[in-house]
Amino acid sequence: MTPLHRRSFLAAATSLLAAPLAFASGSPKILLPLQGTPTSTPAQPAARRRVLRCAHLTDIHVQPERGADAGLTQCLKHIAQQQPAPDLMLVGGDTVMDVFEAKASRAAELRRLFSDTWSANCAIPVRHAIGNHDIFGWHRSKSGTTGQEPDWGKKYATELFALPGRYYSFDQAGWHFVILDGVQPKGDSYCAYIDDEQLDWLKKDLSNRPKGSPVLVLSHIPILSLTAITYGKPRAIEKRGQDTSINAASMHTDGDTLHELFSKEGVKLCLSGHQHLLDHCSTDGVAYICDGAVSGAWWKGIHQGVPEGYGLIDLFDDGTFEHRYVPYGWTVRS
Ligand SMILES: [Fe+2]
Repeated sequence: MTPLHRRSFLAAATSLLAAPLAFASGSPKILLPLQGTPTSTPAQPAARRRVLRCAHLTDIHVQPERGADAGLTQCLKHIAQQQPAPDLMLVGGDTVMDVFEAKASRAAELRRLFSDTWSANCAIPVRHAIGNHDIFGWHRSKSGTTGQEPDWGKKYATELFALPGRYYSFDQAGWHFVILDGVQPKGDSYCAYIDDEQLDWLKKDLSNRPKGSPVLVLSHIPILSLTAITYGKPRAIEKRGQDTSINAASMHTDGDTLHELFSKEGVKLCLSGHQHLLDHCSTDGVAYICDGAVSGAWWKGIHQGVPEGYGLIDLFDDGTFEHRYVPYGWTVRS
């Protein structure tokens, strides 16, 4: 494809986003199916076969406060009752709340709380991505860390989630799955892109995957999402006529590069979270879905119209997918 320019990319995405945004601000009881088939190659449902069902949980933000562990338990039980139950759990990061700025004692408490809650309530195989809140001590002054702690930084997450590395891939049911690490340091904070080492690996990984297999990419921060524009306060009227800027911590700053690679290498679906909002953008045969959060508004209720929930994704043998966002009926606690 021709080089992708962010402005045209976003314009294409905007036109496809109307329905999910309407859902986000409308009734939380309506489940929104998102058809993942590129418009240029319509699916033929009668000929295809579902090969895998995945649940996408993101932004769990487990914590002792507000009954978050009970909320995660309720969510996991809701998922297990799906018919059929998912074959695979994809957990998109921000699984604990939060160790980025936390003291070591709090990080240890959250480690135990997550491990105990998950192991007691989920027997489905799981794959994790790392979220910004899962990185221990990057804000050194607030966390009191030196950087020499054995579980400092992303080691905390790779150990807690038993990851083979901070990014990795695997094959299942004829699909190739890529788990990216897009959270990069920026002063005491972070921004979103994949580093050179990871980009080199990604190019080789996609090139060497089983021939012709469709690809699902999981990242914490969206690679493309309209939520990065619509998140937060409305744009000030005084800024009409000025270029729109997107916070580097809200959406990947290398989305153009990644999209060009994805469109050439059979990537069908990119899942993300981070925004605690729901949207679906699609262009060049690549779909980008940002799912709402298991924690809603960080366990304080529905977030900008999107209730506490998870994504349910069916993958088919012809490289198509179906997605819907499923609220699990959490009632906020004080
Ligand atoms: Fe989050």
